[in-house]
Amino acid sequence: MTSTLLTGISELWTLDPDLDEPGTAATDAQVLRDAALLITDGQVAWYGPADEAPSADDTIDLEGRAVLPGWVDSHTHLVFDGDRSGEFEARMAGQSYAAGGIQVTTDATREASDARLEQLVRERIDQAVAGGTTTLEAKTGYGLTVEDEARAARILARLREAGQVDAVTFLGAHLVPGEYRNRAEEYLELVIGPMLAAVAEHCDFIDVFCEDGAFTREQSARVLVAGREAGLGLRVHGNQISAAQDGLGLAVELGAASVDHLNHLADGDLEKLAESGTVATVLPACDLSTRAPLAPARELLDAGATVAIASNCNPGTSYTSAMSFCVTTAVLQMHLSLAEAIRAATRGGAAALGRSDLGHLGVGARADVHVLDTPHAIDLAYRPGMPLTHRVWRAGHEHL
Ligand code: NIG
Repeated sequence: MTSTLLTGISELWTLDPDLDEPGTAATDAQVLRDAALLITDGQVAWYGPADEAPSADDTIDLEGRAVLPGWVDSHTHLVFDGDRSGEFEARMAGQSYAAGGIQVTTDATREASDARLEQLVRERIDQAVAGGTTTLEAKTGYGLTVEDEARAARILARLREAGQVDAVTFLGAHLVPGEYRNRAEEYLELVIGPMLAAVAEHCDFIDVFCEDGAFTREQSARVLVAGREAGLGLRVHGNQISAAQDGLGLAVELGAASVDHLNHLADGDLEKLAESGTVATVLPACDLSTRAPLAPARELLDAGATVAIASNCNPGTSYTSAMSFCVTTAVLQMHLSLAEAIRAATRGGAAALGRSDLGHLGVGARADVHVLDTPHAIDLAYRPGMPLTHRVWRAGHEHL
């Protein structure tokens, strides 16, 4: 057993679930001052006042810095090649986002060698962790053939085995690819038949882009039901471009773990989500990059929904894995308090992945530690864009 004591912590945001109080994002007992944290064999073994800390094999003095649980990024599309900067520039000049751009990335991704694709994913993971992210969900969805989706799933599953990715999601129903133009039903049969069979052993979840221009509510339901029968958890891209396909309603109806985007809600949707066990995942960087109306995170919280914040790192709508930026945006523009935003980007993401051992620093949690280069976590919003990540540990191992 090896143990490391982190001491000299000005603010220790444990967000310990054992100390939850209804209606409070972070109680005083969940944010300790002048604290220390003991890591033993990759898990949190103890936390408390620094002057009561037990001894350990190693002691690291953080010299008055704030400590958070590592960010839990529950929505990324890390397996891709190619460039969509031109599409982004056109959007900034006034064009709207449409699902069709996915084909551009699909073409480039199919062309990439296995080695190149895996290297690109590894580099993206490294960047995410350098920004304080310690949990990553990652989706397939830019292959859209049996072979290319299976390749993406295999790469992600390998990285999950290596402890770099935490959840792998099959997103064969991302777009009807060009070769199936006007044959959406045939493509759907491929997705829920041979494609699902080829990827299921590598995946934890199935996802669908339930939207005009991608898949209808009825088609999306077939994808999700097939995934559930194959033993996968459910996730939905819903209500991003409009409420027309009611991805939110479908996610709630089928008990999906999460419905993500949520820029356009219909009457009653807030309540529907709040009464369900489905997490409402908002994607602030995506909303800015697509100039979409910001997802109503404030209203979702006020209605009682569990909210997660994720990066949606992908080349089309959100080419960033910077969770700190997402938290900043949630505070400054979505009107969340700092505690609400931190909780959504840690505990919220963990809830969206069905993981009670992640997203907090309670005893027994995985030791995923994000040290900020400041005594006050409020600087995430007060000093937007500053490089505030100082050191990161994932499962007790420091990211160097
Ligand atoms: O979550 N909305 C669907 N999928 C991605 C975007 C994909 C793309 O445009 O390449 C998203 O925003």
